[in-house]
Amino acid sequence: MPLNDSPQDRLDAVRHLLTRHGQEHLLAFYDSLDTGQQASLLEQILAIDFEKLGILIEEHVRQAREYDLPTNLEPAPYYPREPYGAYDASEFRKIGEDCIRSAKVAAFTVAGGQGTRLGWNGPKGTYPATVVTGKPIFRCLAEQILAVERKYDVEIPWYIMTSPQNDSQTREFFQDNNCFGLVRSNIFMFPQGVMPCLDANTGKLLLAGHHEIAVNPDGHGGSLRALFTSGAIEDMRAREIEHISYFQIDNPLVKAIDPLFIGLHVGAPDSSGQISSKMVVKSGPEEKVGVFCRDGGAGGKTRVIEYTDLPPELTHQRDEDGNLRFNAGSIAIHLLGVGFVEKINSDQDRFGLPWHRALKVVPHVEIDTGKIVEPSEANAVKLETFVFDAIPLAEKSIVYETGRVEEFAPIKNLKGIDSPVTSHQIQSDRNGSWLESHGVKVPRDDQGHVQARIEISPLTALEPADLATIDLPKEIKIGNNINL
Ligand code: UTP
Repeated sequence: MPLNDSPQDRLDAVRHLLTRHGQEHLLAFYDSLDTGQQASLLEQILAIDFEKLGILIEEHVRQAREYDLPTNLEPAPYYPREPYGAYDASEFRKIGEDCIRSAKVAAFTVAGGQGTRLGWNGPKGTYPATVVTGKPIFRCLAEQILAVERKYDVEIPWYIMTSPQNDSQTREFFQDNNCFGLVRSNIFMFPQGVMPCLDANTGKLLLAGHHEIAVNPDGHGGSLRALFTSGAIEDMRAREIEHISYFQIDNPLVKAIDPLFIGLHVGAPDSSGQISSKMVVKSGPEEKVGVFCRDGGAGGKTRVIEYTDLPPELTHQRDEDGNLRFNAGSIAIHLLGVGFVEKINSDQDRFGLPWHRALKVVPHVEIDTGKIVEPSEANAVKLETFVFDAIPLAEKSIVYETGRVEEFAPIKNLKGIDSPVTSHQIQSDRNGSWLESHGVKVPRDDQGHVQARIEISPLTALEPADLATIDLPKEIKIGNNINL
């Protein structure tokens, strides 16, 4: 719209646009708004591509688009963890270490989610996550980055994706904590994009307030776009970064920078260095994680199939030894080539990620009364993209197995699975095994769980070998609190 249009022309044009797309209710309260609010509402409306959104409404709200399962799916091959078997882990670890030492690797955390299941009043990274001292997740990750910087005598830039909803709180938290001792200019935060929330029955956009459209973050897949549009990729190029270590905010045990994984991503013969992934062996057929698969035939693409999309006969299929065939569970840890992120941003029509719908409760303004209603049941469709949908866009892509206890202690729910309680137990189990590898006696119950709370700061040890120079207790007793 030309800049010199009068406010009335602008309003008329917006009205026309909305009427064409059946969304004219967005202006229902326009006349009662002050000038600033009116301008803000028009700006929000004009930022939306209603043509594209109309197609998505048709596909994901009016009809629930069926998932198109690729044919001839096979389990994706993966590099096993210890014992490493067919590959020389020390060779790849060295490649990874060289890459870290020569400042080619950046850390990237996606922290734009709404964390509704945890119900924590603040960004999830501020949640007190560790088992003894209750360190917030941002501090756990910052200490890891600091420890890697010290170990390899290098600066590791840390990119953090927030959302418009939690960006300022996240920035304040870093400021209040003096960036946890990291160099401030090496931290680059940016908010991700958003999508309008849609009424699940009608496909109409919802209003969060009289002059505010209800939106949700556009999914962790939005990170690939936001890395580009925020200038983060440009910043990486200026720093000569080549690889991005991608991980989520909800896993305090994630290895933020993992030499062996980086080495495989960079040097494995079947890696394109574009996008690589970590997996854990599924705990059972019913575990609700996506599964790494490969399309049949030569040059078949690696991809993650969501547990809801994998047919039951494949979910439960077993090999001749009785093991699950489709056993490689995705834990949302990836390495991305900087060039790959640039490539998929170069042509959105070709490389745009598919949208997924989720039904959620979204409070909104009722148009007839002007009052905010808080529905008791899911009333809205949220559209999101997922980062793993970028995997088949790569020429080739490898998967590497990590240990569940080593690296996967997610905090997603307040109670039950993937909750603070389960995360604390996994943290103690992992730290207990690190101590045991140095001869410390650690009490365990008959299921193998450590019967004490053990925390090891990344500044003390990034991996078991780092404990060699630390003064360790000889024995830990049931119920002890150990903080190293
Ligand atoms: P989840 O799928 O667990 O979603 O995100 P969530 O929004 O954090 O939590 P719920 O579902 O509302 O309880 C997995 C990871 O992806 C990030 C989250 O911050 C988390 O690290 N994420 C998710 C984003 O950065 N942006 C999004 O739009 C969605």
